[in-house]
Amino acid sequence: MSAKRTSIHGQWSSRWAFILAATGSAVGLGNIWKFPYIAGENGGGAFVLVYLLCVACIGIPIMMAEILLGRRGRRSPINTMRVLAREGHHHPAWQYLGWIGVLAGFLILSYYSVVAGWALAYVFRAAGGLFSGAGGEQVGEIFTALVSDPERLLAWHTIFVVMTMIVVSRGVQSGLEKAVRFLMPALFLLLAMLVGYAMSTGSFAQGVAFLFSPDFGKLTPAAILIAMGHAFFTLSLGMGAIMVYGSYLPDDASITQTSVTIALADTLVALMAGMAIFPIVFAHGLEPGAGPGLIFQTLPIAFGNMPAGTLFGTLFFVLLVFAAWTSAISLIEPAVAWLVENHGMSRVMASVWAGAITWTVGLGTVFSFNLWADDTLFGLTFFDLLDFATANIILPLGGLFIALFAGWTLSRRVTMEELGLDGIGYQLWYILIRYVAPLAVVIIFLNVVGLLRFG
Ligand code: PFF
Repeated sequence: MSAKRTSIHGQWSSRWAFILAATGSAVGLGNIWKFPYIAGENGGGAFVLVYLLCVACIGIPIMMAEILLGRRGRRSPINTMRVLAREGHHHPAWQYLGWIGVLAGFLILSYYSVVAGWALAYVFRAAGGLFSGAGGEQVGEIFTALVSDPERLLAWHTIFVVMTMIVVSRGVQSGLEKAVRFLMPALFLLLAMLVGYAMSTGSFAQGVAFLFSPDFGKLTPAAILIAMGHAFFTLSLGMGAIMVYGSYLPDDASITQTSVTIALADTLVALMAGMAIFPIVFAHGLEPGAGPGLIFQTLPIAFGNMPAGTLFGTLFFVLLVFAAWTSAISLIEPAVAWLVENHGMSRVMASVWAGAITWTVGLGTVFSFNLWADDTLFGLTFFDLLDFATANIILPLGGLFIALFAGWTLSRRVTMEELGLDGIGYQLWYILIRYVAPLAVVIIFLNVVGLLRFG
């Protein structure tokens, strides 16, 4: 048994603290904002099924791999990959995996914070009673007024970036652990309430059928790619976020149990968001494929028409902001940990640098919804391109290499020791990480490339 390392950044106080923090990273805008709108754009049921399969067969094994690599290396992903490669006498190029993750973190956070800014803005719209008695059209206008105003978007984006930097600069344990402990259950309760409201709309069955009855005719190669990309995005995989959280995990915690718990909680939240939103969409004759504005154009109708809707609406958007916040922190942690380790920076300085870069790149997304709305490449705005490239290309590629490293490069002894598994449990993970996950990613990529080349 090799000597165990410790992280210079500290450690979670317990296994539960890690589960909460990693669930805080996983559950975010991806579940509540993104999942419903991409499910709506890609036809519902069959898309959801592919997403669930990807979570189970690709997501969970790769999450286990990321945590085990992080805990073994006990450093930022860049340095963890460098050290593990050196220890096993493997090629030093493996550390570039860490670099790709840092890049992906900046790119994702740059637009994530703009959308989180929408949620912030909606806290005040809900609290001000703006949605009272509102119908679909009115709510649509409120959304358009927000996104077409670059100055307002910029202000909210700036506030969210600053909020993220404040928590990151204080370190992962203080504040974060405590906040997540209370916020996750609260978010869950509020979502359950919204599902309850959706049941009263008269279109619940239609909404649920849309989400769960697969029509494979609607399943294009692009939809499969987006479903897979979303499995990575929603579980925070492929860029080192979970790896860096794993580097703070106590040695005696079970990686398998924690991974399964996190994936189940994340999936449940996404499905509940879908079950809350689609019945409202159908009850009000709205368009399921309305795009990124979907939740901002549907949930306010529910809040505007339910008893105590102002209170619940405000609470919901506050919780959405918190869910986004706990994810944003993990997007930037790999970069911050690396700056502290390699440049001797204080966490505060490292956070300021990371925030400045994120904020600047985020300007592109701010303008995508107004000034640059007509500037497109392949019909995609700057925001669309960033979102597509990060979620559907960079994260799955990162995940592919993580799977290859854990499954083919690291020795079986190391992975077995770190996972604490043997027998059939280990065999199952080994087959998934060595063959199933990498092959699935490659086949889904090739499927789309084939489509592009041969139409
Ligand atoms: N999982 C987050 C969500 O679903 O909102 C987004 C995210 C966080 C993606 C951290 C990637 C990441 F590393």
